[in-house]
Amino acid sequence: MEFADKVVIITGAAGGIGKETARLFAKQEAKLALVDLDQSALESVASELELEDYLAIGADVSNENQVMNYVQATKEKYGRIDIFFNNAGTVGKLARMTDTTAEDFDKVVNVNLKGVFYGLKHVLKVMQEQKSGSIVNTSSGLGLHGGIGLAAYSATKHGIIGLTKTAALESAGFGVRVNVICPSAVYTPMVNIIEEFRSPESTEKAREQSEQRIPLKRYARPQEIAELVLFLSSEKASFITGSEYKIDGGLRA
Ligand SMILES: NC(=O)c1ccc[n+]([C@@H]2O[C@H](COP(=O)([O-])OP(=O)(O)OC[C@H]3O[C@@H](n4cnc5c(N)ncnc54)[C@H](O)[C@@H]3O)[C@@H](O)[C@H]2O)c1
Repeated sequence: MEFADKVVIITGAAGGIGKETARLFAKQEAKLALVDLDQSALESVASELELEDYLAIGADVSNENQVMNYVQATKEKYGRIDIFFNNAGTVGKLARMTDTTAEDFDKVVNVNLKGVFYGLKHVLKVMQEQKSGSIVNTSSGLGLHGGIGLAAYSATKHGIIGLTKTAALESAGFGVRVNVICPSAVYTPMVNIIEEFRSPESTEKAREQSEQRIPLKRYARPQEIAELVLFLSSEKASFITGSEYKIDGGLRA
């Protein structure tokens, strides 16, 4: 029960990976601050996970005031922030670069890059002051390579790795660790959007082909991603900071 009474903020907590991570932390009796666009979706997660001690905060991570608000609300209720899973993200509208509008590009940058930056900026202030804490950001396999139709997504996910390394360097002296995970496809609604773009006539075919390319012959389960997040957040990872972790079933081996 390493996480008993630890205060954990999870953004994107109503989504596939966020919810499973909340489930694993809750099993160890952590105190959870769940953040997502839609507060009622978070209340459903809390009731599905039978949470007792939690905060459900509706916030758009691309809005700095709303980020300050979820950090403040957590600090007010629990007095500290031990772990931050900076995970909310969007794949945006898939299109080749030549067909991508500036507006569509900006939407992805605002959520994936600025949202992660605002989260780091305001949570780090709290963690640096308390001189402890661990942060895990969510990048992607597409933070390490490109993807057709995914220019903004790939660019922002590369950017999250840069933010992570800088945050780790700026925080090490305060006893705060910052790492980043790079999952390939995970069984969540987000991959359906990519499958539809790749093969609009048959998403099943797209899935089969994608799964075949992965040495372990399947996508990741959200729980497998959550297990890595818990490891990196734990004392077992006490010497790990500024590192990026591929979790991809051997895809880029
Ligand atoms: N599913 C995959 O295959 C995959 C692979 C690699 C990385 N990722 C990354 O994992 C993270 C979690 O995604 P997921 O797979 O659970 O997908 P998901 O779509 O199930 O969850 C994403 C969550 O983020 C929330 N969100 C989106 N924009 C937001 C905003 N502006 N403010 C607050 N919340 C917002 C959504 O409402 C949703 O609940 C994302 O950063 C995603 O890019 C996913």
